[in-house]
Amino acid sequence: MSELNKESYVSRVLVFNPKGGVGKTAVSLNISLSLGHRIITNDQFSIVNQVLPEDKFIILDKDDKLIKSTSSIPIIYDFGGFLDDRLSDVFSMVEKVIIPILPFKENLQISLDCVEEIKELVSEDKIVLVINQVTDSQYKEIYKILKVFCPKIPVFPLKRSTVFYHMILLKRSISSISKDGGLFTYHFKTVADQFDLIIQNLYEKKDEK
Ligand SMILES: Nc1ncnc2c1ncn2[C@@H]1O[C@H](COP(=O)(O)OP(=O)(O)OP(=O)(O)O)[C@@H](O)[C@H]1O
Ligand SMILES: [Mg+2]
Repeated sequence: MSELNKESYVSRVLVFNPKGGVGKTAVSLNISLSLGHRIITNDQFSIVNQVLPEDKFIILDKDDKLIKSTSSIPIIYDFGGFLDDRLSDVFSMVEKVIIPILPFKENLQISLDCVEEIKELVSEDKIVLVINQVTDSQYKEIYKILKVFCPKIPVFPLKRSTVFYHMILLKRSISSISKDGGLFTYHFKTVADQFDLIIQNLYEKKDEK
């Protein structure tokens, strides 16, 4: 990944799931720490202010309007919850929509319904699913089901790992932490590799446009 130019990544990414606790902020933070995107979130209790410098995040108040940024500053919108008027503006601006979901089969129908709703707001080729906190065997099973219902949508696994705790504490990307050597590398290489694939999916081959 290091050989790729940071400017070649999509500059408007939405990380969205109306459901709480699925990993939206964890995913957003690691993309920001890896590629430098600024995070804009509608979660007033977000922890982004504990991790990122002042100029790298905006926490929107309930009544704050979303300014349609015309600048080229790369932005990740970390949005949860339903019925936020600002969401339709965000959907019209973004080039990718990452939907983190949890790997519980009892929640899968809700996640599939969520994908169907998002498909009405944004073209399917912009959508990416991340199955978060998933084991290899859970992933195999869920992947099979997802490929029946949304065969065209890329799906990525992300295992449960304490590296997310270290990322918040150290304010450094997972990939960078995993290169610290010793036990950090031993424990975190797999999850770092998994996240690299998610980041590679944000890479834009501008020459081919
Ligand atoms: N793959 C993972 N492994 C271990 N912990 C994780 C992982 N993904 C997320 N977490 C942790 O799980 C908790 C919930 O994740 P997070 O806050 O990112 O979810 P969220 O979708 O942003 O929730 P909310 O809707 O409340 O904003 C956090 O403590 C986060 O650090
Ligand atoms: Mg959050």
